[in-house]
Amino acid sequence: MEPVLSVSEITSGYGASPIVKGVSIAAKAASTVVIVGPNGAGKSTLLKAIFGLLAIFSGKVYLKGEDVTGMPPERLVARGMGYVPQNRNVFPSLSVRENLEIGAYQTPKHTSERMERVYLMFPDLKKAMTRPAGTLSGGQRNMLAMGRALMSDPDVLLLDEPTAGLSPAYTKVVWEHIVRIAEIGKSVIVVEQNTTTALTSSEWGYVLVAGENRDQGPGPELLARPDIGKMFLGR
Ligand SMILES: Nc1ncnc2c1ncn2[C@@H]1O[C@H](COP(=O)(O)OP(=O)(O)O)[C@@H](O)[C@H]1O
Ligand SMILES: [Mg+2]
Repeated sequence: MEPVLSVSEITSGYGASPIVKGVSIAAKAASTVVIVGPNGAGKSTLLKAIFGLLAIFSGKVYLKGEDVTGMPPERLVARGMGYVPQNRNVFPSLSVRENLEIGAYQTPKHTSERMERVYLMFPDLKKAMTRPAGTLSGGQRNMLAMGRALMSDPDVLLLDEPTAGLSPAYTKVVWEHIVRIAEIGKSVIVVEQNTTTALTSSEWGYVLVAGENRDQGPGPELLARPDIGKMFLGR
């Protein structure tokens, strides 16, 4: 099956200095891909480059077989890409529902139906729909940020550390949601610090070190490898 997202040897960074160097990744429909790597490895930079927030110095990004290299974020959203940044800033004074509506502003036709689907997936958000987002817990805010990205019904969802700052219990809940998002057909690409949970739950993993692809393989297989364990888990 052709990948929904295919990133081919991209080099990108801030200003003129490359941070991500010749990185390739591929992601299929209905599956989860995780990107792990030490702090500062360039994981967030990679997602920003894919989502058109940074210039791509060389290499290509293909979305559903089409070359979308260098396209700005709003056009990528219209074509089926969604992105939740590392500091998923929800609008604290707006209600949960209003935050979700913002996620649909480019694709307003199906707003109510998509909102129902988001509420089905995240019952916490349904219960809180009229509350200001600023009153949600950290975990609920993460879910709102994911829900908002789902409002455009993306084929590919990029998530940057969706469990940062969450308790182990909430981390597990968020990963259950990620797995379900993949099960409904989406291609989910997740940058994660919680390496064990992420690799256990993902079909494929990439290890990014110093801006380069160091390794890749089935998530659980990577996790079991002594060198990967040493790098991330102190084994
Ligand atoms: N806005 C920025 N401007 C310049 N350099 C940045 C910026 N953000 C990150 N960097 C640098 O890019 C490198 C990779 O950062 P990042 O992609 O955030 O790593 P990771 O997400 O893997 O922890 C780091 O050396 C960092 O200092
Ligand atoms: Mg990061």
